[in-house]
Amino acid sequence: MRDDVLPEHVQRNRSVWDGFASDYEVPGRANWGVNDPTWGIFSVPESNLLLLPEDMTGMDAVELGCGTAYVSAWMARRGAKPVGIDNSPKQLETARALQQEFGLEFPLHLGNAEATPFADASFDFAISEYGAAIWCDPYTWIPEAARILKPGGRLVFLGNGFLLMLCTAPGSDSETPVSTRLERPLFGMHRLDWEDDGSTEFHLPHGKMVALLRDSGFAIEELIEVEIPEGSTTTCPFVSLEWARKWPCEEVWKVRKRGG
Ligand SMILES: C[S@@+](CC[C@H](N)C(=O)[O-])C[C@H]1O[C@@H](n2cnc3c(N)ncnc32)[C@H](O)[C@@H]1O
Repeated sequence: MRDDVLPEHVQRNRSVWDGFASDYEVPGRANWGVNDPTWGIFSVPESNLLLLPEDMTGMDAVELGCGTAYVSAWMARRGAKPVGIDNSPKQLETARALQQEFGLEFPLHLGNAEATPFADASFDFAISEYGAAIWCDPYTWIPEAARILKPGGRLVFLGNGFLLMLCTAPGSDSETPVSTRLERPLFGMHRLDWEDDGSTEFHLPHGKMVALLRDSGFAIEELIEVEIPEGSTTTCPFVSLEWARKWPCEEVWKVRKRGG
C-alpha cells in the first residue's frame, strides 16, 4: 500500500515506529532466543495466560503488528505456518535480520493490519501482542481479522488494561507513573493521540469492545485481566509492580470466529 493512501494515523505511527525500531532490536533478539513465551511488559509466563495452542502443527497463523516477529517465531516452533504483517519498514528489517540469525524464515509483509493483503478465510489463528491490539483502529482491524480468519478460527490479543488507560492522565508520557485515580472519562474513549511522541493508540471500553467483537462475528471465549506475578520486573517506567499487583495493567481477549 502506498504511504499516501494510508490513513493519517497509520502514516504517523509508521514514522514513529521507524524511530523506535532500534530500541526493539535487543528485546526482540532476547525473545527470539527463548522457546518458552512470556507476554507483555512484565514478561508473564505463557503458563499463566495460555495465549498459544501448545500444538500448532499445520496451522495457518498471522501476527498482526508483528514488530520483530518473535511471536511468529514461537508459533513456527510449535508447528504453525506463520505470516507477519507490520507497518514499520525498520521493524521488519530487524525481523528479517533475526530470521537469518536464528535460521527460521516465514513471510513478512509491510502493511496496515487494518487492511491486509490476505484472502478471506486464510488463517486458523490470529494474534497481536501490543501490535494491532493498541495501534490500529478496532473498528477496522477487528472486522479485518474476522475476514481473514477461517470460520472457527481464533483471535487472541493483548494490550494495556482499559483501567490503566483510564488512570493515565492526558498530557502524560511514557515515563509518567500511572495514577491511582480515574484521570479520563470512560465514555467516548477510542482514539488517544500522544503529544510527547506523536503516536496514536486506540483503546475501547469493555462494553464497546464486546459489541464490536459480537458485531464482527466473534464469540468471546475469555477476557483475562492480567495479574502480574509477585517478584516480576519491567523496564517500562509508567507502571510499578505495586500498581500492577492491585489492578490489571494488561488484558487479553480470546475470541473465536463463529461458524466452522
Ligand atoms: C510493540 S510492537 C508489537 C510487536 C511485539 N509483540 C512487541 O511487543 O514488541 C508494535 C508494532 O505494531 C506495529 N504497528 C503499528 N501500527 C500498525 C498497523 N496499522 N499495522 C500493522 N502494524 C502496526 C508497529 O510498527 C510495531 O512494530
